[in-house]
Amino acid sequence: MVSETPLAGMLWKGGHVKLLLVLLGLEAHLTISCPVNCVCYPSPMTVSCQAHNFAAIPEGIPENSERIFLQNNQITMLLRGHFAPSLVTLWIYSNNITFIDPATFEGFELLEELDLGDNRYLRALAAETFQGLSRLHALHLHKCGLSSLPTGIFSGLHNLQYLYLQDNHIEFLQDDIFVDLVNLSHLFLHGNKLWSLHQNTFRGLINLDRLLIHQNQLQWVHRRAFHDLKRLTTLYLFNNSLSELHGECLAHLSALSFLRLNGNPWECDCKARSLWDWLRRFRGSSSNVICESPDGMQGKNLKDLKAEDFRDCSGSESLHQIKTHTFSTADRMAHKDHHSHHSSKEKGKGKDLDHVLPNIEPAAPPASRPGYRKPGKNCTSHKSRNNISKPASLGPRKSMHDLPDYVPDYKHKLSFDMIPTVNPKRKAKCTRRTPIGSPSGVQQAAGNGSSSLKTSLLAFLLVLAAIIR
Ligand SMILES: *[C@@H]1O[C@H](CO)[C@@H](O)[C@H](O)[C@H]1NC(C)=O
Ligand SMILES: *[C@@H]1O[C@H](CO)[C@@H](O)[C@H](O)[C@H]1NC(C)=O
Ligand SMILES: *[C@@H]1O[C@H](CO)[C@@H](O)[C@H](O)[C@H]1NC(C)=O
Ligand SMILES: *[C@@H]1O[C@H](CO)[C@@H](O)[C@H](O)[C@H]1NC(C)=O
Ligand SMILES: *[C@@H]1O[C@H](CO)[C@@H](O)[C@H](O)[C@H]1NC(C)=O
Ligand SMILES: *[C@@H]1O[C@H](CO)[C@@H](O)[C@H](O)[C@H]1NC(C)=O
Repeated sequence: MVSETPLAGMLWKGGHVKLLLVLLGLEAHLTISCPVNCVCYPSPMTVSCQAHNFAAIPEGIPENSERIFLQNNQITMLLRGHFAPSLVTLWIYSNNITFIDPATFEGFELLEELDLGDNRYLRALAAETFQGLSRLHALHLHKCGLSSLPTGIFSGLHNLQYLYLQDNHIEFLQDDIFVDLVNLSHLFLHGNKLWSLHQNTFRGLINLDRLLIHQNQLQWVHRRAFHDLKRLTTLYLFNNSLSELHGECLAHLSALSFLRLNGNPWECDCKARSLWDWLRRFRGSSSNVICESPDGMQGKNLKDLKAEDFRDCSGSESLHQIKTHTFSTADRMAHKDHHSHHSSKEKGKGKDLDHVLPNIEPAAPPASRPGYRKPGKNCTSHKSRNNISKPASLGPRKSMHDLPDYVPDYKHKLSFDMIPTVNPKRKAKCTRRTPIGSPSGVQQAAGNGSSSLKTSLLAFLLVLAAIIR
């Protein structure tokens, strides 16, 4: 907290200011409203109420507040009227929010950063909660006990660049749930319970740079699950339950530079050939891919296998299908049929995404049932679904040659900067506009910004007192 002299504290902390001024009959003249036990400073109007055991949103937050910091309290509910539409930044992570009224942020067209992370009992969100937040560029929902996301929850968030959904209990992502997020560059989904990625799970994410899905229970990835991710540079799939992944999945990722596949029970029989072949051609950095089966392959790195190791495989998984990054004719046809015109950057821009043609496949309900799988091509075999318990033995499989796994740590807000970046141009484009340094920065500013005000207020009161006498 800000260290203040007792007198200055009295003058600046809301309740006391009011009391003093009322005594002097000056309230109407000088209305500095700041909630009790908070620190406020102007331009932009900022209210900092962090770590004060608030059980509810404090009274007296100035109407025109642009930045509100309420993290590390015990706040349980967010309701309409708690905040005003002037809000640009709200940090309310690490509280005990259990309910968010879907109208809480209605009409908040200026809101750019919303940090609701680490509210473990939140568990559910209404689909309308973030509706209309067209300027939002960072949304933090990590560690919120979420087991599902309602359809449409991210619709209209065209400016969102950072979406933090890690460390929840999410088992399933509906088709097209991210389809409006044309500007999203970072999507953090690690530490959930996802077990499948479908053809349209990530549709529309044409600007995605980093996709972290490690520490889930992934067993099945559709061959076209990554088809729109032409700008993806970093993909983490480590510590999942993948026994296979078709090379074609990765062939769509033309900008990929960092890939981590370790900590999965890879089955290095003929199924692995397309992945092996893709890895051979991959020019970026990739983790080891240690085989768990079949018997003769156990412990070997798929990347070290030779063509002879696959000599008994029939040509059904034709190598040249994935040699280039283009689709086969059959794929193109399928592509057309599915109206997936977002896979091209040009078309994926702007308004096109507002007119997404309906999916041929039924939407969420049937697919959300565990065990449901879409018909059609699979990157990973369905059989493995029945062998869920098997991948539990993950630890020892990791070889000494593995690069240390990077598990982004939320403490605090800088995690994505620690992941290597290959494309400085894009990185520059995606830097956050809101200051990352706070809350320390906020406190400094509060201390500094308010001190001159405090001093002048103090001087003013002293002069007044002298006059009254
Ligand atoms: C947080 O909320 C949950 C659910 O209402 C409650 O069980 C828990 O005791 C609360 N925790 C604290 C620290 O208040
Ligand atoms: C977001 O996307 C739209 C449309 O693609 C673009 O006009 C806009 O500049 C983007 N905003 C940012 C912050 O990248
Ligand atoms: C997908 O997996 C199922 C079950 O293992 C299998 O019967 C089917 O042939 C597979 N489809 C493709 C296209 O590989
Ligand atoms: C499940 O795994 C065991 C070995 O772990 C294997 O013997 C069995 O064939 C597998 N079952 C299926 C359906 O893949
Ligand atoms: C992978 O998961 C296991 C089990 O949850 C865990 O012990 C291990 O630390 C994880 N590995 C990494 C690199 O996070
Ligand atoms: C406080 O403000 C002064 C000038 O107003 C500036 O020189 C100083 O660096 C500031 N200190 C902090 C900690 O921001």
